[in-house]
Amino acid sequence: MLLKRVAQTTYPPPPSGPVTRTGPIHCPSPPQPPEAPMQAAISAKSSTNRDQADSRSATGDHVLGQYIPLLYHYNMLQDEDRVGAFQQAINLLVSPGMHVVELGGGTGILSSFAARRGARVTCVERNAELVACARGLIRDNGLDEQIEVIHQDATEFVPDTEVDVVICEMLHVGLLREKQAQVIAAFKRRYRQAHGKKLPVFIPEVSILMAQPVHQSFDFSGYHAPVPMFQAPLLDQPRTTDFASLSAYATISYDEPIPLQFQVQEQLTAIRSGAINAIRFVTQNVLAVDMSKEQAITWPNQCLVLPIGSPFDVSKDDSIEMAFDYSAGGTIEQVAESMRLQVA
Ligand SMILES: C[S@@+](CC[C@H](N)C(=O)[O-])C[C@H]1O[C@@H](n2cnc3c(N)ncnc32)[C@H](O)[C@@H]1O
Repeated sequence: MLLKRVAQTTYPPPPSGPVTRTGPIHCPSPPQPPEAPMQAAISAKSSTNRDQADSRSATGDHVLGQYIPLLYHYNMLQDEDRVGAFQQAINLLVSPGMHVVELGGGTGILSSFAARRGARVTCVERNAELVACARGLIRDNGLDEQIEVIHQDATEFVPDTEVDVVICEMLHVGLLREKQAQVIAAFKRRYRQAHGKKLPVFIPEVSILMAQPVHQSFDFSGYHAPVPMFQAPLLDQPRTTDFASLSAYATISYDEPIPLQFQVQEQLTAIRSGAINAIRFVTQNVLAVDMSKEQAITWPNQCLVLPIGSPFDVSKDDSIEMAFDYSAGGTIEQVAESMRLQVA
């Protein structure tokens, strides 16, 4: 019931603004990854959000499809909606003396919240530049006694002792592009082999993946460009008109078996007449649930609007068939190519 209410929440927009540095930075200079064609299509304006980050790197890290340039990591620090929601969840679930593991620690900010709650933290990161960055910043913040940064692929990591809380923020709309699902599934498998059946608590606890048919204005000052668009997680977007209620196609509880494939075929009812030309993907993450207050701490990803090849008209109350098929961590192209939307 609580999750249903969370799925229906209206999403706050993320902050935006230029890259700012407020203190000494010990991180290496960010590399300049090559521009990908999809990236060129979607990054018309600069953004604080990593959704527009190129997924390739000069180091070959693109194999896992989750390379995020250092500059985006710096920008992610100032995304107060993201950082604030995780801090709230960590403050709720972490207490002194706990052992906390962070999978994919980046600059180390989320690990620092757990350490400040008095936990011993193991922060696992596979990107060498970020390992150096995190170690420097953690030392400067006086937290190096409490946080150990381990340079390792999190899918191979096994903690030395039992863990109370696992933090993992490799979240992308639709669980696309980043490997949240695979990393947590691998961690659980290895953890159970080493420490028995009882799992730690996960932050986030749940991700709810939703989609809906929409009409999207792809006209930009008279220039028509039906291309993938990221948008602030605010359902009421001036360029977007929804044609059916949001449909939740997967609810992933990270302490239960995690699906790695999303094969969706749904019948929806048109809520208005007009032309449909895209599917909007919406993802809400429940970072923690405060049972005493019956309140969920949530963080929504940016929404993704993908155009369909053949726009069509519907009348109110028509039945619409929406189908798509992709793997967790898959590419936007994979979803786009699989999409089918038609009057049933
Ligand atoms: C979206 S960032 C989040 C970073 C940090 N937790 C934060 O909130 O600022 C995801 C991080 O996971 C790391 N990562 C991705 N795949 C990984 C893997 N298999 N093992 C370890 N780290 C990984 C990336 O290098 C990146 O630093």
